[in-house]
Formats: sequence, C-alpha cells, structure tokens
Amino acid sequence: MHLLYPTPHCSERRLQARFAGRWAVITGASSGIGAALARQLMRYGAHLLLIARREEELQTLCREAEQMGCRALYRALDLREKASLETLCEELPRLLPSVDYFFANAGKSICRPLAKSLDRAHDFDRTIDLNYRATVHLALALIPALERARGCIVYTSSVSLLYLW
Ligand SMILES: NC(=O)c1ccc[n+]([C@@H]2O[C@H](COP(=O)([O-])OP(=O)(O)OC[C@H]3O[C@@H](n4cnc5c(N)ncnc54)[C@H](OP(=O)(O)O)[C@@H]3O)[C@@H](O)[C@H]2O)c1
Repeated sequence: MHLLYPTPHCSERRLQARFAGRWAVITGASSGIGAALARQLMRYGAHLLLIARREEELQTLCREAEQMGCRALYRALDLREKASLETLCEELPRLLPSVDYFFANAGKSICRPLAKSLDRAHDFDRTIDLNYRATVHLALALIPALERARGCIVYTSSVSLLYLW
C-alpha cells in the first residue's frame, strides 16, 4: 500500500519559500482537493484566485486568506458555460498580469458502468466540457501570465492513470 500511495514529504520552510507572495489560480476551489489546496497555500502566504460555482464557499475561503494576510479573489461561474468561460478568459490577463501557478483541479468523473452509459452520451459531453475544454481555454488565457512569472500548470488527475501501463 505504501508503494502505491507514498506519503509525500516536503519541508514547511521550503514550501513557504516557494509559495509566499506567489499568485495561484485554482479551479474547483470550493470543496474537496481544491479547497484543501487553497487553505494549504494561504498558510504559506500565497495570493489566490479561486474559481468554482458555489460563491459562498469561495467567499469564505477569500475571507480566510485575507485574515492570513494574503490577497484573494474569486470568480463564481459554471466552467461548462461557454459564454461565462470566455468572459473569464478575456478578463484574466487584466486581472492577473503575472501568475505563478495554475492548478487545473475542477473535474468530474463518470461513476457509472459503461453498460449503463450507452444512452448517456451527454455525461461524456459534460465531463469533456469541464475536465478538458475549460482547462484548455483557461490554460491558453493564462500562458502569457505564467510565462512572465516562469510559472507552471499543475493538473489534478487520478492515481488510476498509473495503473494503465
Ligand atoms: N477525490 C478523489 O478521490 C479523486 C480521484 C481522482 C481524481 N480526482 C480529481 O480531483 C479533482 C478534485 O476532486 P474532488 O474530489 O476534490 O472533487 P469535489 O470535492 O467534487 O470538487 C470538485 C470541484 O470542482 C468544482 N466544479 C465542479 N463542476 C464545476 C463546474 N461546472 N464549473 C466550475 N467548477 C466546477 C466544484 O465546485 P462547485 O460545485 O462549487 O462548482 C468543486 O470545487 C477532480 O478533477 C477529480 O476528477 C479526485
């Protein structure tokens, strides 16, 4: 079990040095991994742009970040909606001219056997719109800002991918 899921180790001092004062954009920040990541990064003094649909959750996280001395912004939108996504992509270069990390974390899985999905192509469309289309559009909008900061893109994926070899 430990071989499959090794415990990551990184010194708090190094993490602080890496993230303090850096701008991170996190999609899917309102719950789960994204919210936990946002809370971790604010502890290291990162500035945050948080993206998801649930506004109250994003507001709460922004307040927490500001109380910890970080700058925090949020955008509440459905990333599957093309018009909202394009509005955000157009706004991003003005909002954040320089970005250190883009955590592409918003995503859905289809937890249904294939045999029960035969008449549910729309499930795949929804997943593609969120996991792929929105991520690509945001990445394209953020690349100039990421280049300026020599930043990077971090995708949340599944450990199951490692089993596919
Ligand atoms: N947890 C796991 O075991 C696991 C395993 C493998 C991969 N992953 C991947 O890890 C990532 C995070 O998973 P999680 O477990 O933390 O899931 P989660 O708690 O369900 O969080 C998903 C996040 O994505 C946001 N989101 C969903 N649909 C959205 C939409 N249409 N527009 C904007 N934001 C949307 C949700 O916010 P709103 O509802 O507020 O929009 C939420 O913040 C996902 O990409 C998932 O596929 C997770």
